[in-house]
Amino acid sequence: MILLKSKAELDTMRKAGRILAGIIKELKKIITLGTSTIEVDRYAQDLLRKENAVSAFKGYRGYPATVCTSINEEIVHGIPGERKLKDGDIISLDMGIQYEGYFSDAAVTLPVGEVSAQAKRLIDVTRRALSEGIKKAHVQNQLSDISYAVQEYVEKNGFSVVRQFVGHGIGSQLHEEPEVPNFGRPHQGPVLKNGMVLAIEPMVNMGGWESQILENGWTAVTKDGLPSAHFEHTVAITETGPEILTA
Ligand code: MF3
Ligand code: CO
Repeated sequence: MILLKSKAELDTMRKAGRILAGIIKELKKIITLGTSTIEVDRYAQDLLRKENAVSAFKGYRGYPATVCTSINEEIVHGIPGERKLKDGDIISLDMGIQYEGYFSDAAVTLPVGEVSAQAKRLIDVTRRALSEGIKKAHVQNQLSDISYAVQEYVEKNGFSVVRQFVGHGIGSQLHEEPEVPNFGRPHQGPVLKNGMVLAIEPMVNMGGWESQILENGWTAVTKDGLPSAHFEHTVAITETGPEILTA
């Protein structure tokens, strides 16, 4: 069942979204040559504590960290550690938080130092694919109108969308119905309604869409070893259009 959020619930989700957006903005500042991913995770924990919010990821099915840090060919669920960022890397930061009983979830991909023109384009196309999807998050559209818009934009630009992971409804749970794929035919699935909140999160590969999971049981990587980018926003569907809660 897709839960519709009341005005009061949406207000709390706005706060959860704003807090997360502020934290990600801070994390971006330390993404540079030589920063280790565990430092990013610790900083995220400190910032969360100051906001009286808690990580939605730490302990989720045993996930060990506050932020997912996914570098280059890692698509999602990279685990923070001693690895240091180096010139030419791209890194995705994905973070979910819980605040006053409600969740928000967002991700960005950032260049480290001087990255290739193609990596830059991958990041831009993925960010814009998220915008294209969000544009379709309107009352009366159908769920797969979002999916189709993302896929079409990505493939038109010569990249591919990951199939193994999808976006999701979000509210008093991190993952609620419906699933939000980044691919599919238009005009399928549930009709979008005022009060739905979706985490829309395109994962885009420079090469093929195929992915696999590393031996740590978490980290998804591209099969061909080419880079992948990820952007995510928590988006409310309102009478007046999509409202990005994590902007
Ligand atoms: N961002 C992922 C999602 O939207 C959540 C990762 S789950 C965790 O589903 F295990 F990494 F916490
Ligand atoms: Co998510």
